[in-house]
Amino acid sequence: MVFMAKERSTQEIVALKKVRMDNEKEGFPITAIREIKILQKLKHKNVVNLKEIVTSKAQKANDMKGSIYLVFEYMDHDLAGLADRPGMKFSEEQIKCYMKQLFQGLHYCHTNNILHRDIKGSNLLINNRGILKLADFGLARSYTAEGANPLTNRVITLWYRPPELLLGARKYTPAVDMWSAGCIFAELVHGRPIMPGKNEMDQLKLIFELCGTPTPETWPDCKNLPGSKVVEFNKHPRRLKEFFRHASSNALKLIEQLLTLDPEKRLTAEKAMDSDYMWDKPLPCDPAKLPQYEPSHEFQTKKRREEAKQEEVRKRQRMESDTTANVARPQPLGKHARMPGQTSVRGGSGGAIEGGMPKTAFPSSHPHGGGRSSGHPMTVGFNRSAPHQGSYSSGSSGSHGGYRGGSMGSMGGGGGHRGGYSGGGYMGGGGARTFGGGGGGGKYGGTQRAAWAAAPPPPKNPPPPDQEKN
Ligand SMILES: Nc1ncnc2c1ncn2[C@@H]1O[C@H](COP(=O)(O)OP(=O)(O)OP(=O)(O)O)[C@@H](O)[C@H]1O
Ligand SMILES: [Mg+2]
Repeated sequence: MVFMAKERSTQEIVALKKVRMDNEKEGFPITAIREIKILQKLKHKNVVNLKEIVTSKAQKANDMKGSIYLVFEYMDHDLAGLADRPGMKFSEEQIKCYMKQLFQGLHYCHTNNILHRDIKGSNLLINNRGILKLADFGLARSYTAEGANPLTNRVITLWYRPPELLLGARKYTPAVDMWSAGCIFAELVHGRPIMPGKNEMDQLKLIFELCGTPTPETWPDCKNLPGSKVVEFNKHPRRLKEFFRHASSNALKLIEQLLTLDPEKRLTAEKAMDSDYMWDKPLPCDPAKLPQYEPSHEFQTKKRREEAKQEEVRKRQRMESDTTANVARPQPLGKHARMPGQTSVRGGSGGAIEGGMPKTAFPSSHPHGGGRSSGHPMTVGFNRSAPHQGSYSSGSSGSHGGYRGGSMGSMGGGGGHRGGYSGGGYMGGGGARTFGGGGGGGKYGGTQRAAWAAAPPPPKNPPPPDQEKN
């Protein structure tokens, strides 16, 4: 869950990301420790800036459950929300500007031996100065080129997941993030997600239908991956050229180089920054020259879609009750004869899955993946609700002391303390809750704007314990 809040002294708007403790039996979650450690290490203009870590006091208003929050600079948009704005069309120099910044951010992470492992539109934040920043390092981890320990292959949201992970690779490289970057770029060029798979097998099928089925020439090591040993896939030619026939030749070349099946041949972030696409005209525009938009996050587009759907259902129900009232008069069967809930489905080509695979060969679901009928595979919903006041206490800025071992004492929102975030009310996970209380005197003050919270997160199937560490 992410909330919006305002710092009392500076009036600066910040984003508060709540540390999920719901399923924790053994103290502070290791995933959050990893996210914090990585974020503290990474300081770059294209990586979201972790400002500090704060706690809320346990008090009646929050069921006596204090919480821990990561405090980030506030970003006006995420790329998924921006792309989904009604009538949105990105110009070529705008796409270049975003892609250049994405490659810069990835290059920085990769040279610092960090794999992001969840690159997708809703994790790319953009502010109204046109700056794009990588966010959500919840699945990130450091890696060594030698690949001493096997890593989990259950990472990266399904539509952006590379073929080596889908085929069960447990030793992999920054090339996994570059595949996701290729999917994002192709999506920006095409106008919608290019491979909206329903499950792992369907995702592989979509990849091979578009990028060609691997051969010993195109991907020699593919045969050594667990998935290749159990399933034989239908042979498909590579179709990227035909699919992106309206793209410029250098855009197509970049898509081809990023969506390369063999991770060893896939373009690195450094080479992508220097690709011909980035150097041909129009050049990437200056971020400051990009148009400014109303705040747009993925949760808002999801909310708009859901409201439209509900309105449609209500309309049909009204029509149906009108029809029942007029039983004597026969009604024509037109488009209104549709059943409620029969809405059009975006994306999702689906179809039969080739081959069979023992259930044990791959995890049956992914923390972020899964079949969806519309939108992005992992839509985060936020709800706006009436603002409330609340206070938060701040932990030690930028140091581990604030949270390690659960020993952080809540400092309260009182005058003598650093702390005191005031957030808005939020809804999510089944109803509005008020958090905080008191307020006054702290560092952070109440915002007049509503706070934001993610709707219930998608079911996060924690990987088995041996994998979770990696
Ligand atoms: N610094 C920020 N400024 C503004 N909005 C933000 C910020 N950080 C996150 N958000 C919004 O909150 C959403 C979820 O954030 P994030 O991905 O970090 O959290 P998460 O709990 O890991 O969510 P998820 O599991 O949905 O990925 C983002 O897609 C974005 O819309
Ligand atoms: Mg996210």
